[in-house]
Amino acid sequence: MKRLRSTLDEPIDFLRGFLRKPQQVGSVVPSSRYLLRRLVELAELERANAVVELGPGTGGTTRAVLAALPPGARLLAVELDETFVERLGRIRDPRLEVCRGSAADLAAILERRSFPAPDVVLSGIPFSTMSTELGARIVQQVERALAPGGRFVAYQLRGKVGDLGEAIFGPPEIVLEPRNLPPARIFRWRKRAV
Ligand SMILES: C[S@@+](CC[C@H](N)C(=O)[O-])C[C@H]1O[C@@H](n2cnc3c(N)ncnc32)[C@H](O)[C@@H]1O
Repeated sequence: MKRLRSTLDEPIDFLRGFLRKPQQVGSVVPSSRYLLRRLVELAELERANAVVELGPGTGGTTRAVLAALPPGARLLAVELDETFVERLGRIRDPRLEVCRGSAADLAAILERRSFPAPDVVLSGIPFSTMSTELGARIVQQVERALAPGGRFVAYQLRGKVGDLGEAIFGPPEIVLEPRNLPPARIFRWRKRAV
């Protein structure tokens, strides 16, 4: 019953988060189940050992990642908003670690936690509402953190992350998911395996 109430509350908590910090949250509703399905496929989670999620929000994406990850894998969810962090703490899964912090400090966060170089960084943070300097710093941190051959998968309502990522990783693969409010684009890069 408690679990059901928590799931039903999720869109409301998300909207409250948007009203508190519209630029930081960047969307009024959580990602649709269609978008979640696409993200899981594109991130190739079934063969990942260590995954970082940037901007998990109320945890819909986090639960989708956990459902696809192998039993011994680790997932670190990095979220700026304190209320969302408190909500994420209710997800009971030994593979999940939740950290209140900024994606801009990713390298330091991983080092402090002795978290291994991730095979996947999945990001829902809104690059279009932050400064270009901050966005570029975050993409640099992701590139530095990823394991060789690792994937950076960013789902966005606008295209700014495409330019920021292209400057560091090269051209992205782009997939459109129209069954989301509003339609979302998913950008995927692979770090060179060398
Ligand atoms: C569009 S919401 C995505 C929520 C959820 N992943 C989903 O798809 O439903 C973006 C989230 O990124 C978080 N965020 C924004 N900037 C961030 C940053 N620099 N570091 C970590 N989280 C950030 C926001 O607080 C918000 O929870």
